[in-house]
Amino acid sequence: MASVTLRALTKTFDAGTKPALQELSLDVRDGEFLVLLGPSGCGKTTALRCIAGLEEPTAGEVLIDEREVTHLPPAERDVAMVFQNYALYPHLTARGNIAFGLEVRGVAEPEIARRVQETAQRLGLMELLDRLPAQLSGGQRQRVALGRAIVRAPRAFLFDEPLSNLDATLRTELRAELLALHRALGATMVYVTHDQMEAMTMGQRIAVLHEGRLRQLGTPADVYQRPADVFVARFIGSPGMNVLAGHGRGMREGGGVVDCGSLSVPVAIEHYEGEIHLGVRPEYVSLCGEDQGMGNADIVVVEPLGAETLVHLAAGGQPLIARVPGLVELRAGERVGVKLDRRRLHLFDVAGERLA
Ligand SMILES: Nc1ncnc2c1ncn2[C@@H]1O[C@H](COP(=O)(O)OP(=O)(O)OP(=O)(O)O)[C@@H](O)[C@H]1O
Ligand SMILES: [Mg+2]
Repeated sequence: MASVTLRALTKTFDAGTKPALQELSLDVRDGEFLVLLGPSGCGKTTALRCIAGLEEPTAGEVLIDEREVTHLPPAERDVAMVFQNYALYPHLTARGNIAFGLEVRGVAEPEIARRVQETAQRLGLMELLDRLPAQLSGGQRQRVALGRAIVRAPRAFLFDEPLSNLDATLRTELRAELLALHRALGATMVYVTHDQMEAMTMGQRIAVLHEGRLRQLGTPADVYQRPADVFVARFIGSPGMNVLAGHGRGMREGGGVVDCGSLSVPVAIEHYEGEIHLGVRPEYVSLCGEDQGMGNADIVVVEPLGAETLVHLAAGGQPLIARVPGLVELRAGERVGVKLDRRRLHLFDVAGERLA
């Protein structure tokens, strides 16, 4: 297995257009399961393809196990990529697909048979080895694609949204299997997704990308509890963090007050007067009687989810979501008091960068 390092990787597809990747630096540790997360078009696939050697970066370096491979062809990098659309050879059986990579590398026939067998057993594919891709379900096809990657025992695995074509149940099942596989193989895995839930549940660390740039690299707890900027704060969580535009005043020793919409929120940050963004996760917004909190807000929509209820509010024109336990007797149009948990506030400057 191996570490994967990106150094200031930049990729511009067409001169004059915005780069798909901008100085992306990233260190994937040996044996780590790292998730690359970000919205559509942020450069996730481009980053994976640069690691695999399917795309040549405009600038920067790719290192695998500390060896520079930036300009080496894919075959000399010894990494395996699994794609969203399976990319199986339609005229080859499952067995043929799994064996293909070994055959082209000239591995001896008995060795191929042994390794295909072992891989098929691991992935529950024994009964399906003689079927063509067209005779397999989506989940089975993705298992074959996985088998094709595993059988080669590559130095690192690259997954490009491998589960997104599958239904929710199957996705959950395969997620667990992939993690079990990661533990069993101790392999370095880079996993791309735009689904923050998937990233939170799977990643040992998450790299959040936006517009080709790395916004934050950290554990799921890091990115959830201490987002580096407003983009990450809003992107992680379901729903994401509330971010209110506000104005800081009286910010001296011991803190001050941020006025945002109809709320006046005491905060413990000093020396930051003027325009500011205040962040708070929905679970740290609580509701109380009118005039008994930090200000009042109007209920716009009540979303009962069973174990909890999402209450969408307007606080002086600013949207704010509260996540409250259980089912509640509240209706759209009512006015309530709002309290924010003072220990759980985040402050960002006008550019969206974290202050505290
Ligand atoms: N071959 C190409 N030629 C020109 N532009 C490209 C090419 N491939 C990607 N791009 C552009 O580069 C940017 C990043 O694309 P990329 O496919 O890496 O995004 P992504 O994060 O994988 O998105 P998605 O979640 O939709 O798969 C996009 O703006 C895309 O249009
Ligand atoms: Mg993609």
